[in-house]
Amino acid sequence: MSSKLKQQASYEATFAHNFWKQTLSRVPAIPAGIELAGKTVLVTGANVGLGFEAVRNFLRLRPSLVIMGVRSVNKGEAAAAALRREFLDARIEVWELDMESFRSVQAFAARAERELDRVHVAVLNAGLGKLKFERVDEGGCHEVTIQVNYLTTALLSFLLLPKLRPTTSSSEPGRLSIVNSGASLGLSLEDPGDGRFLDSFDRAEKFNGFGQYGLSKLLIMMFVAKLAQTINPKEVIVNCTDPGATKGTEFFRSVNSWIMSIALRSFMGIIGRRTADASRIYLHSSLVLGEESHGSWTDWIIRAWPKTMYTDQGHHMGERLWDETLEELKFARVEEKL
Ligand SMILES: NC(=O)c1ccc[n+]([C@@H]2O[C@H](COP(=O)([O-])OP(=O)(O)OC[C@H]3O[C@@H](n4cnc5c(N)ncnc54)[C@H](OP(=O)(O)O)[C@@H]3O)[C@@H](O)[C@H]2O)c1
Repeated sequence: MSSKLKQQASYEATFAHNFWKQTLSRVPAIPAGIELAGKTVLVTGANVGLGFEAVRNFLRLRPSLVIMGVRSVNKGEAAAAALRREFLDARIEVWELDMESFRSVQAFAARAERELDRVHVAVLNAGLGKLKFERVDEGGCHEVTIQVNYLTTALLSFLLLPKLRPTTSSSEPGRLSIVNSGASLGLSLEDPGDGRFLDSFDRAEKFNGFGQYGLSKLLIMMFVAKLAQTINPKEVIVNCTDPGATKGTEFFRSVNSWIMSIALRSFMGIIGRRTADASRIYLHSSLVLGEESHGSWTDWIIRAWPKTMYTDQGHHMGERLWDETLEELKFARVEEKL
């Protein structure tokens, strides 16, 4: 478990380690014998990039149903059509989900509650980085990156728990894997003093583009660690999954400077994994690794948390984040799902 890997945390946050991991190691194949017959898999942000390739990887294991959660149903249906041509027997449904909106997340979860017997595997992949400060127009009007990568991802995690739990005592635990990023590994957090911790990320003067992206991912790792203490891994195993730097996705779509665009593309060309390989990591985290990965940072093995999580301050901020998150999401009665 990541909780026991404090000694590795500083090293795993270094550029050297990540450069080595990206360029010299290969994502292992999924072991033979893992299959998904009779199971339902849900992937968010599934119309492009890592989410789309993850669906393709899951379809090779022949699940009974795949739900693609997407904010544009048109784009989602176009992506699903390509997959249906490749996997002729596959049952793929495209469901609308806008992760900027609490209401949309609630509607999506309510649909899962109504229409599905069970969700066996959920991969919460939808996410983004922004170069400019923007707020969403709903709820606490948080900064967009924090809303999408943290708050609505936390909300969806809570709301899916009832469907992830086994229906009979002999069933396997449900699997919830939330996509994280190495951008969070070396970060530390500022104590906002008397102010609300969650609100401290909503200040335009403190916003630093992709730095905020890393912070939003650090928050979701802290949330997963605390969620794992609260739910029984015999019912639902929850972890974070890190695909590593990946080329060929639309992740840098908000970069509009051509110089920066060329620099990023060149850098990704050197260290980036192919989406087909990187998205296979989601299957390692959600199918191959077991109960030992509960609450952990994973790729194909269990790795250390971001190093700040091992400090007293990090622990204190994690508790505070959890309490504030429960308070913020009270409108959706999230505590009843635990
Ligand atoms: N690429 C990398 O190097 C890398 C490395 C580590 C982690 N990651 C993580 O991997 C995940 C996928 O990234 P990617 O590289 O595949 O990027 P991508 O190609 O831009 O895909 C992002 C996906 O998230 C969806 N999305 C964004 N905002 C959304 C919203 N408000 N509601 C619903 N869906 C939303 C996008 O939908 P639309 O197409 O409709 O916008 C798209 O389907 C992200 O969580 C990212 O942080 C990426």
